[in-house]
Amino acid sequence: MSNEWLDTIVVARRDATPRIVVLDLISPDGAELPEFAAGAHVDVLLDGDGAAGLVRQYSLCGPPHDRGRYQLAVLAETASRGGSLGMHRLRAGDRLRISRPRNRFGVSDRARRHLLVAGGIGVTPLLAMAHALRVAGAEYEFHYCARSRADAAFLDELERDPHVRLHFDDGPDDQRFGIGGLGPVSPDTAVYVCGPGGFMDFVISSAQEAGWSAEAIHKERFAPAQDAATHTEGGSFTVRLAKSGGDYEIKEGESVLDVLLAKGVDAPYSCQQGICGECIVRVLAGEPDHRDDILTDRERADGMFTTCSSRAHSPILELDL
Ligand code: FES
Repeated sequence: MSNEWLDTIVVARRDATPRIVVLDLISPDGAELPEFAAGAHVDVLLDGDGAAGLVRQYSLCGPPHDRGRYQLAVLAETASRGGSLGMHRLRAGDRLRISRPRNRFGVSDRARRHLLVAGGIGVTPLLAMAHALRVAGAEYEFHYCARSRADAAFLDELERDPHVRLHFDDGPDDQRFGIGGLGPVSPDTAVYVCGPGGFMDFVISSAQEAGWSAEAIHKERFAPAQDAATHTEGGSFTVRLAKSGGDYEIKEGESVLDVLLAKGVDAPYSCQQGICGECIVRVLAGEPDHRDDILTDRERADGMFTTCSSRAHSPILELDL
């Protein structure tokens, strides 16, 4: 997995809503934790009851300038296979292994204005962005959509921020979120979207219909937009590795990453779902069939490729690996 695990201790735990737990993590020796930029996530290695060996990704939602502790907020998923429920079982004093922070969802340094749109637990990376933008004195607006007030986390903090707009599904019509609430399309403005799949699809498609360009919309998904089976559907092809050498046949039902790992190739990866970007490598020859939810059109045009979820249209795909 190419992970260097960090040991941390849960120093505080609180229920932010009946389904969201907030965990504060510190280093066991009190040392500073690695630096991170707003929007970053960490892999968490769960090894408790029923969750042994599970790796899950959670955004860091605390202030990025605080190196003394990391904060995670975790929604108890109704269909949890042990990940979120394992996190909810943690108590103060428990140990937790995490990766160093990773980030493909940072604040744009080209934008002058920033519009954050969170749905449900998608508030977590955007909360860190709001901290960073506030400290930087940047112009931003933060729209937080939740089913109800009781389902919304961090309200104490958010309601103190005049840049925040709250939208509850069960509230009056005039406070519901609509894409018009983002104001006019502007080339110096970035839109950041995070939340459940259906919410993200709605926000992204309405923003594009309203005239926001794909480059202006920054997104972070917690789950792939399509069923994972779509990553391995299709005919076989050959992957050729330019650096380490060797040809590997990828059959229907297999991912490039699975085959490379099974053959002992030291390929980077994390989520294995096409949403984190950790497995990205460059294509040197051949025609990729992109099926990830992470690469932008520009990155694809630049030859980037996710080994965990994408395939090939051409019989041979040569990778810079
Ligand atoms: S491992 Fe996360 S995108 Fe491939």
